[in-house]
Amino acid sequence: MCPEDTAVIFLDLGIVRDRLARIKNAFPDGSQHAVAIKTNPLMSILTFLAAEGVSLEAASFVEVKMALRALDGEGLRVVYDSPAKTQQEIDMLASQGQGMHINLNKLSELLLYENYQDIFSLGLRINPVIDSDAFGYLSVSNIDSKFGEYIGNKSSIIDAFYRYPALIGLHVHIGSSFLNFNASLRAIRSVLDLAQEINDKLGQKKVSIIDIGGGFPVNYKDEDDTFEISAYAQALEYECKELWSGQYKVITEFGRYVHANAGWAVSRIHSVFSNGENNTMVLHLGADMFLRACYNPGDWFHHMHIMTKDGILRDDESVLWNIGGPLCFGGDYIDMKRQLPKCQPEDLIIISDVGANTFSLWSKHCSRQFPKVIAYDSEALHDELRVIKERESVERAIEFWS
Ligand SMILES: Cc1ncc(COP(=O)(O)O)c(C=O)c1O
Repeated sequence: MCPEDTAVIFLDLGIVRDRLARIKNAFPDGSQHAVAIKTNPLMSILTFLAAEGVSLEAASFVEVKMALRALDGEGLRVVYDSPAKTQQEIDMLASQGQGMHINLNKLSELLLYENYQDIFSLGLRINPVIDSDAFGYLSVSNIDSKFGEYIGNKSSIIDAFYRYPALIGLHVHIGSSFLNFNASLRAIRSVLDLAQEINDKLGQKKVSIIDIGGGFPVNYKDEDDTFEISAYAQALEYECKELWSGQYKVITEFGRYVHANAGWAVSRIHSVFSNGENNTMVLHLGADMFLRACYNPGDWFHHMHIMTKDGILRDDESVLWNIGGPLCFGGDYIDMKRQLPKCQPEDLIIISDVGANTFSLWSKHCSRQFPKVIAYDSEALHDELRVIKERESVERAIEFWS
């Protein structure tokens, strides 16, 4: 770390490559694996994913542009999902003849594509109303969900497939980080049944793409039971055989599973103090990077270790620490009462499993500078460290507000 680096993020590309291989092995040959950009949107990482041969799932117009840049303009490797696409954005893509697969959030969105039936292939996101067992804010298939067309609107759905030639896919994603995959299996099963019903009613193979979304969880605590993605795929193969029959092209959109374990962060410990009862340390990373951990205490766990500034791991007497960040509000704690060794200012804290949905949710509150990001490849013969993003300069941080 350079003296000005108060914190640094490290990413291991070897782990990302391993997760991609596991996904490719688990699902049918010929599946299109579109990694969710929102999980880790660093341009170098998108370029790495593109070189590894996978597709990219974009959740906004800017993410579509990022995907196209990483994929050298290969629109057919972009899957565009967003609950708020605009006519201007779609017109812009169409005017560039930029074909790609777009999942509609609701049937009302069809109007955006009236004139572009020959440019895009379209899918319809379905809300099967099957709650996953993930934290409430990650479970997105209740009856009030803003995501997807309610599966009960059968006649409107079938009519849309009849009227719109480009509409050839169904999409489902009931939430992220399910604890058990039964709900996901049932959701995908219900969408396959709907596909069959549409095809039967129209007397043709109109639905030819099934996008099963992402959602596969990551084990942040080694002591928890977990399951492998191959087990999820095996259960799917049993419950949803059609996905393996060649009848449909299968799209997946995993995010967290690809990235979470590949990242770790280091922060200098800025200060430590005790009121006799509680010990607190203040870091240079807090709710700016760990939004979900800080705003939903207890939901997310990250292993932590402490080193001296010379890199010697501390394993002496441990105490309970409240781990505060650098922001100016009372909720800025990554964890409370965490057992860690005694430490002192200028020691370093290492925080594990930060590759997904941490820095990608970076908050501008208090205008802290985004840290430097360093990538390496633990699988490579000659493993070298590469800065893939410099620490945000003061000027660039000011520019955001200018
Ligand atoms: C439509 C869609 N697809 C894929 C994902 C990625 O989910 P996960 O990171 O849980 O795999 C998300 C996450 O929010 C999503 O909304």
